[in-house]
Amino acid sequence: MGGAMVNSPNIQIQPATVAINDKGHLVIGGADVVDLAEQFGTPLWLLDEATIRQATEACIAGLANYPNAKVLYAGKAFCCLAICHLMRQLGLGMDVVSAGELHTAISASFPAENIYFHGNNKSEEEIISALTYGDVKIVVDSKSELEMVARLAEAFGRKAKILLRITPEVAPDTHHHIMTGHTESKFGIHLSELSAVCAIAYAQSHVVELLGLHSHIGSQAQELEPYMQIVEIMAECYADIKRTFDSDLEELDLGGGLGIAYTRDDHPIPIFEWAESIANQVITSFGNRDLKLPRLLLEPGRALVGTAGITVYRAGHIKRNPQGTTFVAVDGGMADNPRPAMYEAKYSACVANRVKGPQSAEPTTIVGKYCESGDIIVKDTNLVARTGDLIATFATGAYNYSMASNYNRTGRPACVLVNEGKAELIIDREPIADLLRYDRVPARLLGKET
Ligand code: LLP
Repeated sequence: MGGAMVNSPNIQIQPATVAINDKGHLVIGGADVVDLAEQFGTPLWLLDEATIRQATEACIAGLANYPNAKVLYAGKAFCCLAICHLMRQLGLGMDVVSAGELHTAISASFPAENIYFHGNNKSEEEIISALTYGDVKIVVDSKSELEMVARLAEAFGRKAKILLRITPEVAPDTHHHIMTGHTESKFGIHLSELSAVCAIAYAQSHVVELLGLHSHIGSQAQELEPYMQIVEIMAECYADIKRTFDSDLEELDLGGGLGIAYTRDDHPIPIFEWAESIANQVITSFGNRDLKLPRLLLEPGRALVGTAGITVYRAGHIKRNPQGTTFVAVDGGMADNPRPAMYEAKYSACVANRVKGPQSAEPTTIVGKYCESGDIIVKDTNLVARTGDLIATFATGAYNYSMASNYNRTGRPACVLVNEGKAELIIDREPIADLLRYDRVPARLLGKET
């Protein structure tokens, strides 16, 4: 299939189904965003199912010429039951990083063998759940974790299927907090130690089955080059392992990290091309070394769900500072989207109830309601907003819900999946009563001590 025939939503800022209706309202998935805000309240996360499907299908299509490939959804981008069910129906496996994500994947009926358990400090309990759920693949991050997995597999009479995560010393051009493949990274086994760690795995082959290697170079990567480098490095590792241990590793997991467009300055490679180029490079790099082609795994998160999401806020108080900046304060902010504060992430926004409204010559900054100066959602836009307007920020489908907090004791927003005019609640708004649910008050503070 040619790339031109496949839509790759990750290069667009807005969901694939975005439209403006005759009232001038923003429409997503055939649903009027103003109506949705009335019905479900604000702040509100919306996810456009068609965009998720397109992105996922584009990724799968990119791998079509590779003999044996699978896309794993990196659940850390947005993990809830409905999205896990959707990803499973689309034929994906899942990358999980905690007992909570693992439990969600299992509850959404992912077969255990399609789940890959990552993380640099999995607990004994987490490893035991992975071993007892069935053949969950464990992506081992260190020598000491390997020893722990072998010990627990022995104790539970299981054979652990594992991959080793390596630190490939390849760094994409991204924020330093979301780079992972560089030398100082906390993740993975350094290349110089790989052979020794493989030797331990092979020596424990009665309880550990080494399936392959994994690397993840970082997140919000926009260029192909680091992926081409990583494939070469991996092929070299597979050749070394074949020479040293006379073993053909069965699987190759190249992680995720493909970026999306948040603003017009972002130009990520289309997901179809990303998957296709990686697959072709694996065929070349492994072919050049006469290596058997491993089962190829890719683990995109952001590029599958990021573009599908928008966040809808209600504008409250508006003020203008003496320098000429107008601040529009909305009813959400860093608790539902910590990314601007954490990574200086930039977003694009519109007024959802008046999309084609006038533009301001002076800068307007959309700020949140939380008690921090860094709680800025979009800096220096040219939107003209009034109190009561709905402000929609785009590309919030990844790492917003999953990183949301209860800062300032606020409940997390609701999330609605939209598709062909239907809007279905997939996450309830967190009620204030729930925020008190785990609070316990010592009797003496209630004046009840004896
Ligand atoms: N595989 C592994 C092993 C990972 O560590 C990650 C992301 C992924 C796959 C998926 O990466 P993606 O395709 O979504 O970029 N909170 C940050 C992103 C941290 C990503 C951590 N690992 C953000 O909001 O930008």
